[in-house]
Formats: sequence, C-alpha cells, structure tokens
Amino acid sequence: MQKSSPIGFDEFMDMALYYPGLGYYSSGLPKFGEQGDFITAPETSDLFGYTLARQCSDIMDGENDILEFGAGSGVLAAQILFELARLDKLPKIYYILELSAELKGRQKKSIKKVLPELIDKVVWIDTLPFDFSGVVIANEVLDAIPAKRLVYKDSAFYEMGVGCDDDELSWEVFDSEHMNDKAKLPSRASNDYKTEVNYRSMAWIDSLYSSMKDGLVLLIDYGMDRAEYFHPQRDDGTLRCYHRHKANDNPFVNVGEQDITTSVNFSDIAEQALESGFVVSGYATQAMFLISLGIEQYLSYESDESKRINLAQQIKQLVLPSAMGESFKVLALTKDLSVALKGFDEQDLTYKL
Ligand SMILES: C[S@@+](CC[C@H](N)C(=O)[O-])C[C@H]1O[C@@H](n2cnc3c(N)ncnc32)[C@H](O)[C@@H]1O
Repeated sequence: MQKSSPIGFDEFMDMALYYPGLGYYSSGLPKFGEQGDFITAPETSDLFGYTLARQCSDIMDGENDILEFGAGSGVLAAQILFELARLDKLPKIYYILELSAELKGRQKKSIKKVLPELIDKVVWIDTLPFDFSGVVIANEVLDAIPAKRLVYKDSAFYEMGVGCDDDELSWEVFDSEHMNDKAKLPSRASNDYKTEVNYRSMAWIDSLYSSMKDGLVLLIDYGMDRAEYFHPQRDDGTLRCYHRHKANDNPFVNVGEQDITTSVNFSDIAEQALESGFVVSGYATQAMFLISLGIEQYLSYESDESKRINLAQQIKQLVLPSAMGESFKVLALTKDLSVALKGFDEQDLTYKL
C-alpha cells in the first residue's frame, strides 16, 4: 500500500487535462461536437465566428494580426478568416497558441480542408508573441485553465488538495495555511462551502498584457461576476466534468478521458486586467454581444428556406437564456486602443464586475 502526499487541485487538473499524450486535451479523443463530450459556440454554428469577425473587422487595419488561444478543432479560426476575407479585412497573420500537439494537428487539417487558400495566413506558436498588435480571442479557454478548489471551515477558506492512497484519488484539505488573505473571497460562508479561485488565469492576463503593444482582447466563457460566483446557494462551487455530453462533479473518475472545468470569476479577471494596465472596455452576455453585432442579419443573406430555418435554430442556441445566451459572457479588454466596440452597443454590464 502506498500513500503519497497530496497535490493542489490545480496541479491535478493540469495533469488530467494536459499531461503529454495522456491528458484529456493531449490525447486523441474526439472531445468536441456530437462524437465528443461537449459542444462549444463555434461548433454550434458558423454564425458565431462570422459575428465575432464583425467585431474584429473594426480593429483590423491591414497591418495587424489576430491571436487565438486554445483553438480547439480549428473551426472558429476558419469561421473568422472566412468572414474577414469576405469583408476584405484579413489580418496579416492569424496566430494560434495551442498547448495540445494533437489539437494543433487537427486544427491544421480542418482549416486547410475548408480554406486551403488561407492556410498560409495561419501560424502556430508555442509562446506569447512579443509586441503583438491586433485582436486576441480566447473562447472557452479560461474555464480550462487549472483552478484551485477551496473549502470553508472554522471561519476560514482552506485549499483542497488531491491525495492518492493505493491508487484511489480523494480530496484532502491542506490545513496548514488558510487562503483568505490571498484571494478576494467572501468574508463568511456556511461550513463546508466550496468554491474555486484561479490564480493561473490572473497570471495569464498579466503576461498577455506584457506581450501586447496594442489592441483588443475578447474573452468568451461561462462565468459571472463575483457576487454571483460566491452566491451562498452555490455551495458546491463551479467545478464540473463533462463525459459524453453528461455533466458530473467527480474529477477522480475517467481521468484523462473527461473534460474538467470551472466557471470564470469575471470580477477577478477584470481586476487583474486593470492592475496589469488594460482598460476594461465591455462586459455583456453572449446573447447581447451577438445581437449588438447583428447576428440575425445573416438570416436575410440565406435564400433557401430550410437552411434559413436551420440557421434560426442555431441562433436560438447561441442567444436563448435557456441555452448559451446568458451563462456565457464576453469581456473586452483593450490596450492603447480607442475604437468604440459595437458588441457592447446594446448592453454593457461592466458596472457589475
Ligand atoms: C474547451 S476547449 C475550447 C476550444 C475552442 N476555443 C472552442 O471554442 O471550440 C479549451 C481549449 O483551451 C486550450 N488551452 C487551455 N489553456 C490554454 C493556454 N494557457 N494557452 C493556450 N491554450 C490553452 C486547450 O488546449 C483547448 O484547446
């Protein structure tokens, strides 16, 4: 029998998702779409990427670039490039920074298949660029950055670690040091209240700022402001795992074969962004962001009745509150950029952060 000392949940999540060859995102599993475990907005409809491209087009000046983090199957890159080509607003380079070697290969294949004429615009990079100018996009990336899990006990938050006893994984609370001084946590909570805090995302925002000369950052993810994140009723936190389109709350089963995510605390992200030097230029629900940019106009471009009905269904999936419309938010950060962002014409909830 072997018992090892516990590691932080963020370290566990990092290995379960990204361990070379074995982690969920590093292995050859389908992951996205109907054959996989979950469906993201660009997998739901091309109109998501086309509409996002409309926002990018206001910043594209013929000299600047796009940088997409965690490009998944490559479908969003293809949608954005397709629409920007149509609008005659292509970036000089479309960079993709992807951690998973397996996904890089998949992205290359899928973009080349649908846009062979634009594949040379796409450049895969492994580290942040220097002096980047243009638009940075991260759709459902922050939720995949490893978070720490905390529990409230005896008037303080403590970090929950992951222990391993005889090949059995289990939660183990680190009782040496409490977390209240390190993160903006509720001053009080019910006993055994659990939540998450994502220091790695905050560090990521800071390095992103340093790597940019000027431009816009669009962060799209499921998440909420701090008050909602730490709502007393959310007493089991936001940690969720996805396996074959079913959600569960046990990260210790199907390790390497299921997605592990936590919702984004957009107040933490916005505060870090301000501290780093960004301007917080907009925060809205995904629904209002897409509506502000005129997603429904794409219906009128389609003359075939049955295709139009199909597109209308996809739009509903992206904007209805019961689907992705309200649980997903868009946060816009800018550095040395003075362009009014159309995506926030109808709604800007920055005051809530
Ligand atoms: C849930 S998937 C989203 C994929 C895609 N953006 C989409 O919307 O379909 C999360 C993606 O983020 C990537 N990722 C996570 N952390 C990252 C980081 N620090 N830098 C770049 N990519 C990252 C993963 O490898 C994966 O491709």
